[in-house]
Amino acid sequence: MKRSLTAFHSWKALKAHYRTMRRQHLRDLFVGDPLRGRRFARQAAGLYVDFSKHRITEETLRLLVSLAHESGLRERIRAMFRGDRINVTEDRAALHVALRAPNDHTFYVDGVNVVPSVHDVLRKMASFSRRLRSGSWKGHTGKPVRNVVNIGIGGSDLGPLMAYEALRYYSDRRLRFRFVSNVDGADFTEAVLDLDPEETLVIVSSKTFTTLETMTNAQTARRWILSRLRDERAIARHFVAVSTNREEVVRFGIDPSNMFEFWDWVGGRYSMDSAIGLSTMLAIGEEHFSRMLGGFHAMDEHFRRAPFDRNLPVIMGLLTVWYTNFFGAETMAILPYCQYLKRFPAYLQQLVMESNGKSVTLDGAKATYATSPVIWGEPGTNGQHSFYQLLHQGTRLVPCDFIGFCQPLNDLTDHHDILMANLFAQSEALAFGKTAAEIRAEGTPSWLVPHRTFDGNRPSTVILADRLTPETLGSLVALYEHSVFTQSVIWRINPFDQWGVELGKVLAKRIGDELKGEGRVRSRHDSSTVELIRHYRKHRVREER
Ligand code: F6P
Repeated sequence: MKRSLTAFHSWKALKAHYRTMRRQHLRDLFVGDPLRGRRFARQAAGLYVDFSKHRITEETLRLLVSLAHESGLRERIRAMFRGDRINVTEDRAALHVALRAPNDHTFYVDGVNVVPSVHDVLRKMASFSRRLRSGSWKGHTGKPVRNVVNIGIGGSDLGPLMAYEALRYYSDRRLRFRFVSNVDGADFTEAVLDLDPEETLVIVSSKTFTTLETMTNAQTARRWILSRLRDERAIARHFVAVSTNREEVVRFGIDPSNMFEFWDWVGGRYSMDSAIGLSTMLAIGEEHFSRMLGGFHAMDEHFRRAPFDRNLPVIMGLLTVWYTNFFGAETMAILPYCQYLKRFPAYLQQLVMESNGKSVTLDGAKATYATSPVIWGEPGTNGQHSFYQLLHQGTRLVPCDFIGFCQPLNDLTDHHDILMANLFAQSEALAFGKTAAEIRAEGTPSWLVPHRTFDGNRPSTVILADRLTPETLGSLVALYEHSVFTQSVIWRINPFDQWGVELGKVLAKRIGDELKGEGRVRSRHDSSTVELIRHYRKHRVREER
């Protein structure tokens, strides 16, 4: 029987250490160490990460690193890179790191080096991308494709959408991209409202090719194309698929030569750099896509090899454990000071919460400690004018990740200085606040002083890169992927399954049939659900018979 996490020496030591640290203010830590800003900064794979505004000392870091060692993190990293079936509940490897391996590297799944297959698919994507971007791939009526609609959900949508927005600067502006995910018909309707089917390519992206939302939207897209083109042969020119499920792709009617493959050892939320990134490659071209893979790979190598106290994803993951399990923080804010990263918080919501939102450990026991924080966020500076009030003066501790770039991708450098000044100011204000004495010294009436006081001592990480490039995006995503993995190892959970989404899917299927039926609502439901279904049935639009 394994010792429980809370019985580890390092855990107990951290608990005792926390009792000192919770009383320490960041103001004092900075006064006590004039070099703190430098001492707690780390650099790797094109990222400069400042951890100094965390409620930690060298001793905290030492204890957190011992926790990582006591948890067997080094061996777990080896197991992941070795292609072991670490996704035990689905009996699969989790080898997304192979997706960005240069072609002279080797990664094995069941004794087979998968890198050549990865590069075969990349070549197929690149060749398709060249044809489409050059206009030589024609639609059924001979017109070149001008619009690309990606249909997918979860990892088959959030990654491609986030990457498209993030790298829009590098994209071919002659092409228009739309992303349809929600089964709400409004999503599809609005996405294609101004598109000409003759000039539109639909990418059906789904690992399983059975996801209800995606298949419903794909069938609707098929009708939309055929309603104009009136010829089944048009499907071959207007539809491609990205999937692991060849059989279902063929059943849908998509020519398998128009299918871009990936593998069951790539989790949906870890798939934006697989063929699921086809829309990204179509937008930015193969060169930029390969540069993005280079950024991922650089961070993979860093994660795999750097000592834990210099390892960016390890430190980030351990800090999340520090705040979640010792300070009782429940949420974490992702605050990119970059409009191009506007979908990054939403992308991370799935990556983090679908991975570590678990309460059962690898041995099937209930976790006796908190696991994943709730992830949320918006780009700065917009967030400052909405929810930052709570970050500064609310009753909750919300660790923040600020993400910024030294150089803008436009020539409005005055805007960029203002943007970055705000990023630095927010992180400074959160850490140091403003004392009652300082407020009073400004002549504030005493009744107003408590309202205007900022306690400070609110932790944040600042992540900087020179510029938002395909490489930095890759490094940034891999940074979070491996931080999530680090957390999962400490919490002893499987970050690669998602059983928690199943029950809702089963119930929705059952209720879906009942909504259309004329008969009695089956009493297998509770009285609330029965009444809601009855109400809906009474008021729903009836199909013409
Ligand atoms: O239901 C959750 C989920 O399985 C995610 O993990 C996944 O990213 C999403 O659905 C989409 O799945 P697929 O790519 O198989 O359509």
